This record gives sequence, C-alpha cells and structure tokens, in this order.
Amino acid sequence: MSLVLIIFLTCAACYFIHAKWTVFTVGRRIRGPWALPLVGNVQMISKLKPESLFKSVAEFRVKYGETYRLWLGPELWVFLHSPAETREALNEPTLTRPVAFHQLSILIGNGLLISHGKQWETHRRALSPAFNANILNTFAPVIAQHGEELVRKLLATEGSSVEVSHYLFACVLDAIVETSMGKQLNSLTDPHNRYAHAFHKTSELLFKRMTNPLLALDFIFQRTNMYRELSASVAVIHQLMGIVIDERVEALKQQKSLVSGTSTAPPAEGIRKLRRTLLDTLLTTQIAGKALTCNEICNEVNTFVFAGVDTTTAAMCFVLYSLGKYPAVQHKLVTEIEEQVFVGAALTVDILNRLTYLDLFIKEVLRYYTVVPLTGRQTTGDTMIGGRRYCAGITLWIDLYGLAHDAQYFDKPEEFQPLRFAQAQKETLPPYVYLPFSGGPHICIGRNYALLIMKMLTVQILRNFEVKLRDPHEELVLQSQMVLKSLHGFNLIFRQRVKITE
Ligand code: HEM
Repeated sequence: MSLVLIIFLTCAACYFIHAKWTVFTVGRRIRGPWALPLVGNVQMISKLKPESLFKSVAEFRVKYGETYRLWLGPELWVFLHSPAETREALNEPTLTRPVAFHQLSILIGNGLLISHGKQWETHRRALSPAFNANILNTFAPVIAQHGEELVRKLLATEGSSVEVSHYLFACVLDAIVETSMGKQLNSLTDPHNRYAHAFHKTSELLFKRMTNPLLALDFIFQRTNMYRELSASVAVIHQLMGIVIDERVEALKQQKSLVSGTSTAPPAEGIRKLRRTLLDTLLTTQIAGKALTCNEICNEVNTFVFAGVDTTTAAMCFVLYSLGKYPAVQHKLVTEIEEQVFVGAALTVDILNRLTYLDLFIKEVLRYYTVVPLTGRQTTGDTMIGGRRYCAGITLWIDLYGLAHDAQYFDKPEEFQPLRFAQAQKETLPPYVYLPFSGGPHICIGRNYALLIMKMLTVQILRNFEVKLRDPHEELVLQSQMVLKSLHGFNLIFRQRVKITE
C-alpha cells in the first residue's frame, strides 16, 4: 500500500514539475515563506483569519521585500507593492483577470469585470457614456428618495443602538437597481423581498468561494451544498433580469409612442417614466452596427449590481463608523453642510460638489479602509513587470491596501486625517499610490456613481442625526470590505438632531 502511495506521489510530483517547470523557475527566484511540496502555502493561507490578513500581508512584506510569492499548490501568486510595479501591471494589456474571478461567471457571464481583449474594450467604450456627468445628475433625485427612506428607517430606531449594514445594503441595492434598471425593488421597506435576498445570498456565497482555495476547482465546488444554494439564488436574479428587460423594452416603446402622441396607455407598474437608466444605454447601444444580445445586457447589468452594491455598502459602513469614531470630523462636516446647503434645499450634484471637506473626508475613508484591498491580474505570456520576467500562468496581486498605508507615501498612515488630501499635500502624492478605485484602463467605471451615492447618503444622514458609536472605546478591527463581511457589523446610535433643514 505504501509502495503504491510512493509511486503515485512520485508520478504526481514528476507531472507537476514537468507541467509547471517554467512557473516553478520564476517562483524559485522570488522570496516568500517556506512552502510544502505539492500543497505549497495552502495550509498556511487557509489558517489566516480575515481580520489578521492585512497584518500578515504587511509582515510578509517586511520579511521578504516589496515583491514576494506564495504557492497555492502548483499556482504561483506574486504580491506587488511598489507604485512602479503597480503602474506597469495595471497598464499591461496582455494581463487578464485572475482565474478566481471566473468563478463570478455564474452570475455575470462575460461582463466587464471578467472580460478582456477586444470584447472588454468594445463593451467598456460602449458603456462609459452611461456613467457620464449628465446621466449621473439625473440619478441624484432617485438616490435622494432612497436616502429619505433610510432616514425614516433610522428615525424609527429612536436612538437605540442599531447594526446598520443591513439598512445600508438594502438602501444601496434599491438605489443602484432603480438607477441601473428602472425597477423599484423596495427592499428597504420590505425586508422579505426575495430579489434582495437573492442578491445578498449570491454575493455572500461567491465571496465565500473566492476566499476559500479548497473550493477553487469547479469539479469539487459543484458537488457542494453551497453550489446548489448559489445556483438557486442566481436563478432568481436571472428571472428578475428577464422580467425587467421585457418591461423596460415595453416601457421605452410606450414612452416613444406617448411622445409621438400615438398612445395613452399608462407605463408598466414599477417603471418610472422618462428617466434614463443604465439599462436604456445598453438597450440602445450598438457595437459594430449590432445591438447587444439580451444575455450580454443581462451580464453587464448584473456586473454593475454585483460590483457596485457590496463595495458601496461597505464604503458607507466605514463612513458611518468614521463619523462615530471621530466626533470632531463629524462636527466639521455638519458645519460645512449648514453653511453650504440652504435649509430645505433639494440635494443636487452641484450642491454636493460644493462640500469640499466632505470630499476630503470620503477620500480619507476610502484610503483608510481601502474597500477593495487587493486586485489581481493573470499573466498570459512572457511579461516584464518591475524589471522581472514572468511567464504565462502566474497570478499577480496588487496590494492596494498596503500602498494606501505605506509610510513612504502617507504621513502617519494609521491616523485618520481627511486634510491629508487638501490640495497642497495631495500634490506631493506620487501616482499609483492612492488607488481606491484601481487605476489604468480597468479603473472602476462606477467610481463617480459610487461617490455620488456616498456623498448624498452622508449629507442626508448628517442633516438628520448625530451619529455615535454604541461604545466609543470599542476598537474594531475594521479593515476593508473583506473583513466587514466576516464580522457581524457594528452598532451605532442615530440621535435625531434639532433639524438643520427646517
Ligand atoms: C465605493 C465603491 C466602489 C469601489 C471601492 C470600487 C472599486 C473598484 C475597483 C478597485 C475596481 C478595479 C478592479 C481592477 O483593477 O481589477 C473596480 C472595477 C469595476 N467597478 Fe467598481 N467600485 C465601487 C463601486 C462601483 C459601482 C457603484 C459600480 C457600478 C455601478 C462599479 C462597477 C465596476 C465595474 C463594472 C468594474 C470593472 C471595470 C473594468 O474592468 O472595466 N463599481 N471597482
């Protein structure tokens, strides 16, 4: 029996060395923790807790230098930390998304987050106008309505402590679904909404899989209960998308005939008339003279929801946490709002853009908590990055969190200081260091959209409440979206303000 095992292991090792020899030779030249034969550093990585992940990454960096490697079985992961390597990696057109991103395809097919090459280029060019300033301006009143609903929910808590991430998720989901698809989901007012539940469940399960190397192989994953649960949730989302696309096509037709005076029929239920959505841009986009297919549209809208909701929710959680943690900063923000926003005035993009301290505050929240802490790229051929030659099949991880907390570029990086982004200081910041939305051609397409939602909700909350931490001395290890997901949120108290708006 042991002879069979030895022969099997020897054959497996020979196959592995033969197939992965070039990768192996690249990996051998990069420093990193000691790796076991065949399994590499899997055992060590699976033991890391999300809350200590960034500490470990920082420790590896101190120990092994700016570029180091980990082995996930035969897979080589290389971590990049310098701005120069980051710039080269983010702008290198031959790099694709890491293999792990393809696990998202069950929900987003070949949407922007996964696609590359010609398809990515044409879709990105076609979709970019959907996020231009004129369109985003028209989203402001919709986002404001959802913000008002959030304020009503928080008022109902009557100053008792509340775990706010569920409210924020529902509010951001409602706002993004309505502005991107024209559908009112109402998940904030209806906690049992099956679509909201499906979105929540799907992103939770996809996230769990992506952070568990043991579930990486489809062959294994498809035999788990998690896969069955995920397929059921995704089916609910795809069903919703089918209904929404049909309704929207019908509503656009009706709108056209209403404008031309040939119809008086009311628009379909749940569809707001005459407000352009991201879906409308997709429905009317032509690439090389051809309209996008229903499947392509569905994939891109699901990409917006998937890429936008969790990230913006996490960012808003960090905004509220920072308001509670730094009362002096909160006071400064309220003063600015009182000075700049007329009593009872509707919040427009122009008004929000006037709030300069709010802008600095949001920038610092996005630096301090780096919502997306790492982004990855996969080599597809011989590539030079940072003077080092990589062959195909290597995953490069860019440490966005590490860059944002590097004392070489940020003075006292562990202190929360919004003023560090004031003009004079910002000018000394080298490029490819502050990258909350990544950089290069794949920079987040929804960044201005996310900033609009964050600024709108922050002002609405501050106009109505004083935000306090339930326990001001409680130090939570709140680092990035990844960790937020693994915690049970945190508790805040929303104490109603003597109204500054009325
Ligand atoms: C605070 C909120 C957000 C953060 C921190 C964030 C962060 C990011 C980052 C870091 C990337 C780049 C990943 C890479 O380089 O590989 C990215 C890409 C992307 N984001 Fe966002 N995002 C946010 C909100 C949104 C919103 C609201 C949307 C859409 C409605 C969105 C849609 C996308 C899409 C489609 C991509 C892929 C772009 C491409 O590859 O061309 N994101 N985001």
